[in-house]
Amino acid sequence: MHAPAPGAEAFKAAMRDQWDHSAQGWNSQSAKIRCWLTEATSAMIEMANIRPGMRVLDVAAGAGDQTLDIAKRVGTEGRVLATDLSPRILELCRDNARNAGFENINTLAADGEALQLEESSFDAAVCRLGLMFFPDPAKALGAIRRTLKPGAAFCAVVFSTPDRNPCVTALVSTALAHAGLSPRDPYQPGGLLSLGKPGLIDELFRQSGFERVATTRLDAPFRLPNVNDYLDFVRTSASPVLQILGRVDEAARGAAWADIERKLSAFNTRDGWEGPNELLLTVGQRS
Ligand SMILES: C[S@@+](CC[C@H](N)C(=O)[O-])C[C@H]1O[C@@H](n2cnc3c(N)ncnc32)[C@H](O)[C@@H]1O
Repeated sequence: MHAPAPGAEAFKAAMRDQWDHSAQGWNSQSAKIRCWLTEATSAMIEMANIRPGMRVLDVAAGAGDQTLDIAKRVGTEGRVLATDLSPRILELCRDNARNAGFENINTLAADGEALQLEESSFDAAVCRLGLMFFPDPAKALGAIRRTLKPGAAFCAVVFSTPDRNPCVTALVSTALAHAGLSPRDPYQPGGLLSLGKPGLIDELFRQSGFERVATTRLDAPFRLPNVNDYLDFVRTSASPVLQILGRVDEAARGAAWADIERKLSAFNTRDGWEGPNELLLTVGQRS
């Protein structure tokens, strides 16, 4: 139903390189990301039923924006393990934890599809905007479920359908057109919208043995002063657009960015710029 792409290991090695390379840039955008995802993060923490004193697994934690919120929630009696494929981004997660004064955060560089953690050792797990990048998310779901204690919940946040995430769609389709490449299936494994296909993520959770699976949709518009703030965010993240435009010469790249800016300016508002996004928050429990 969602077959992993051939060459999954090479895909993940490239993903690690991209995120190592973009780690600093992603971290520099933390304030924007924090504003954009505040509501989604609170909802994710609630859905995973994270409470004081708990031991929580954060998969694909990145520079740890949500990790800090979880660390605050579990308090000094609890702990968070932030894991990510990219060792560079986890260094920033550690810096951010230290600078914010948290002593209850540990980090571990690990592929979310191959977590080597003690079975039944976590009270909850989350993954914010990471699971869609996994070539074999079912494998990751099985590995995450195994680490949970009976009754513990896992909540994942991913993008929904292309029509509800028009900026992501416009970015990728415009970049592909300028690179002379054919349009891609937006749901192809490992892509930004790969888990947005209606019903897919619930099915993957169930197939991986999770129970009481439920998905909530959440509007998460990206509100910024102007379109260039969004383009800065895209340029400093490990967006697939950068890989696509990495193949073309400078003139074609400039033309592609100008076209992208023109298309995304359709989301200018009287008060600034507002890019619509819809997220899926899916929760499942280990029985
Ligand atoms: C969009 S960032 C999200 C980071 C963080 N959760 C947040 O919301 O700020 C995606 C993260 O997924 C990580 N990632 C991608 N594939 C992964 C995999 N197979 N295993 C673990 N992490 C992965 C990347 O290294 C990156 O840090």
